[in-house]
Amino acid sequence: MPSNYKTALKNPVFRVISKAAKDLQLETYVIGGFVRDHILERGSAKDIDIVAVGSGIELAKAVSKLLPGTPNVSVFKNYGTAMLKTGGIELEFVGARKESYAEDSRNPSVENGTLQDDQNRRDFTINALAISLNETTFGDLLDPFGGIKDLQKKTIRTPLDPDITYSDDPLRMLRAIRFATQLDFMIEPASLEAITRNANRIKIISKERIVDEINKILMASVPSKGFALLHKTKLLQYIFPELLALQGIEEKEGQRHKDNFWHTLEVVDNISETTDNLWLRWAALLHDIGKAPTKRFDKKIGWTFHAHEFVGSKMVFKLFKRLKMPLNDKMKFVQKMVLMSSRPIVLASEVTDSAVRRLVFDAGDYVEDLMTLCEADITTKNPKKFKKYHSNFQLVRSKISEVEERDRIRNFQPPVSGEEIMKTFNLKPSREIGIIKEAIKEAILEGEIPNEYEPAKAFMLKKGKALGLTEA
Ligand code: CTP
Repeated sequence: MPSNYKTALKNPVFRVISKAAKDLQLETYVIGGFVRDHILERGSAKDIDIVAVGSGIELAKAVSKLLPGTPNVSVFKNYGTAMLKTGGIELEFVGARKESYAEDSRNPSVENGTLQDDQNRRDFTINALAISLNETTFGDLLDPFGGIKDLQKKTIRTPLDPDITYSDDPLRMLRAIRFATQLDFMIEPASLEAITRNANRIKIISKERIVDEINKILMASVPSKGFALLHKTKLLQYIFPELLALQGIEEKEGQRHKDNFWHTLEVVDNISETTDNLWLRWAALLHDIGKAPTKRFDKKIGWTFHAHEFVGSKMVFKLFKRLKMPLNDKMKFVQKMVLMSSRPIVLASEVTDSAVRRLVFDAGDYVEDLMTLCEADITTKNPKKFKKYHSNFQLVRSKISEVEERDRIRNFQPPVSGEEIMKTFNLKPSREIGIIKEAIKEAILEGEIPNEYEPAKAFMLKKGKALGLTEA
C-alpha cells in the first residue's frame, strides 16, 4: 500500500479546502468513510468528512467563500459542525474533538482535541484513517491504529477498548454489524464479545437511527450475515423480538416444523439476488412474522400456522409503528405482500387459469413483486421439488401475461356499470345491484365469460331474471 494518497484527492475541492485551511492556519484532514471507501475502491463517496484541528465551522465558511457560487453553509452549533454542498457532494466539517459520553445519553460532552484525540474517538480503525490536506504533507496517510491492515484482513476493530467505544455510542454495535455485512468483513472476537456484553445499551438509541442501520443491512448483497450477527450478539431481542420469536424447531409426536427464523434469512438472501427494492426485501424479512403467534399443534394434521399471513400483516403495522417507520404506501405494500405471501404457493402445484386470474385481480400492480417474493420463498433442499416449484412459477408468470392480455384483470373495471344495472331493471340503489355486479366479476374470474361488454350484459340479464327482476 502506498503511504501517499494524493490519488484520493483528485477532486479540485480538496485543494480549495487546503487553501482555506492554510489561510486560517488550521491543520486539516479528510477522514472516515471517504478514505475507507477510496482504499476499498468502493466508488467515490458523496459525503466527505473534513476534520480541522480548531474550528470546523470557521473552515467551512472560508471554504465556501473560495467556491464558485459561495454555497450556503449550514451550521450545527450544538455539535460544532458545519455542512455545505458543492458539485453533487456534501462536505461535513468538524473540529477535532476529545469526547466522552454520559452513561444514559448519546449526547457527548465535547472538548477540543488533536487529530489523534479525534481518531481515538472514532468507531473503527477502518473509519479512523485520515489523509492530510495540509500543504506540505498533502496526501499523506495517518493511520495510528492499523486501519489499513484491518482493511486488508477484512476486520472490524475498534481503536480503543471495545467496551469503551461501544458504550460511548451504542449505535456503533449496529454499525459494526452493518459494516461487516456491507463489506463482508469479520468483527474481531473481542469486539463481538463486547457487543454481546453491551447489547442492552442499544435501548438508548433512537428508533430512526436503528432503522437506518437495518435498512443498510437489508440492502447488502447477503443480508443474512447481518441478521445472524444480530442474533449471535443478542441485539435482535432488543430491536426485533418478533423475528427472534420465529427461531427454534419444536417436535411433538415425531412431527417437526422448520425453523422459521433461519428460513426467513434464506428468503431474504434469495430475494436480494433479484431485487434492490428495499420494501420488497422488508416483505421477505416479515413474510412469516405471523407464524410465531399462530403456531399450533393439531393431533391430526400436525403443526399449523393458521391465518399467519393475516396476523402477520397486522403485525407489520405495529412493527413499523414501534420502529417509527413511515406508515405510508410503503408500509401498505409490505402488508399486502405479507398478506398474500402464500397465495401463489397454491399455484406451484397446480396452475389453473381461474386461480391465476384471481391472483392478478387481488394483487393488482403488485403481482410481479409477489411472484418474486414467492420464488424467493422456495428454500427446499430437495432438488426435485426445487426444480418443480420453480418451473411451475415460470408457468404462472407466463399465464399471468397471457391472462392479462386477454382479460385485463389488473386494476379490474366492471364491464357493466352499477348505473346500467339500475337502468336495465329500473332499480333504486339496492342489494341486488351488488349481487349482480359480484356475479359478473365472479363469472369473469372463473372464465365463464370474457371480460367484455356484450357477454357481460347478456350475463347480467340472465342473472337479473334469476333474481326475479324484470327489464324496464
Ligand atoms: N463515526 C463514529 N461513530 C458513529 C458514527 C460515525 O465514530 N456512531 C465516525 C466514523 O469515523 C465514520 C464517520 O464518523 O467514518 C462518518 O460517519 P458516517 O457518515 O455515518 O459513516 P461513514 O463511515 O461515512 O459510512 P456510510 O456513509 O456508509 O454510513
